[in-house]
Amino acid sequence: MNASFAGQTVVVTGAVGGIGSAIVEAFVGQGARVGLIDFDEAGGRAVEARLRAAGHTVKFVAADVAQFDACKRAYDEIAAELGGADILVNNVGISPKTNGRALRVWEMPPAEWEKVMAVNLNSVFYMTHLATPHMIERRAGRVINMSSVAGKAYCDIVAAHYAATKAGLLGLTRHWAAELGEFNITVNGLAPGRISTPLLKSVPQEINDAVARVTALKRLGTPEEVADACVFLASDQARFVTGQVLDVAGGWLMT
Ligand SMILES: NC(=O)c1ccc[n+]([C@@H]2O[C@H](COP(=O)([O-])OP(=O)(O)OC[C@H]3O[C@@H](n4cnc5c(N)ncnc54)[C@H](O)[C@@H]3O)[C@@H](O)[C@H]2O)c1
Repeated sequence: MNASFAGQTVVVTGAVGGIGSAIVEAFVGQGARVGLIDFDEAGGRAVEARLRAAGHTVKFVAADVAQFDACKRAYDEIAAELGGADILVNNVGISPKTNGRALRVWEMPPAEWEKVMAVNLNSVFYMTHLATPHMIERRAGRVINMSSVAGKAYCDIVAAHYAATKAGLLGLTRHWAAELGEFNITVNGLAPGRISTPLLKSVPQEINDAVARVTALKRLGTPEEVADACVFLASDQARFVTGQVLDVAGGWLMT
């Protein structure tokens, strides 16, 4: 992908995780200023130091995106140093399991349900609410929401809270694309399949191997493959694409 993001600010949530860090690398590699938000403070500081040493313009802020006030503080700190977000990547997401298994409706503690709603869905509203005024003012912007194929098709590996939040992002993506189109802001999503990141370690390896067997390309994906699709949606090449959620799944759970 040959796109240049020089002069643009990208804000990425969950930026220290497997897919988030690949997205950060992809954008700094093409000249963007990147703001990283994650609650892993030690990991975030290490990434920030490494990228700054390599000459990139980045700022990490530790924050729990489940809280609006924390999102606002993080967004404002990044905007003060790097400028407002031209591209927002709502990447953060959690998929809790108990002993490697997704809890069923009668087993699930309401607190776990509420946490997944807050991290996977509420944070996307909070961050988009905070970032869009700058994009509207500039009459340009990109919002990219990290859904999942588990939000489009039934997937027995994840629990209902995760599927509900990732399906919710499909609706948000379409709705916000309609609201923001007149300001030349596109809103799209990505629906990764099974991607090799720390998130996968929550289930036994046999489950991930079984997914690879029923994936058309016969393997799991890499974070870099999701990052490439993210860069495409953020690029000028995708300027007439909006309200879409692109599978990056190697042909697993095709919809
Ligand atoms: N890995 C996959 O197979 C896969 C498949 C489909 C979709 N996704 C989605 O891709 C996104 C990234 O997943 P990943 O595999 O890189 O996960 P990951 O677990 O490697 O990274 C998630 C990151 O989010 C951070 N985080 C978690 N809760 C937070 C909170 N409350 N506040 C701030 N930061 C928080 C973690 O510290 C971590 O750095 C998620 O939305 C996930 O649902 C992943």
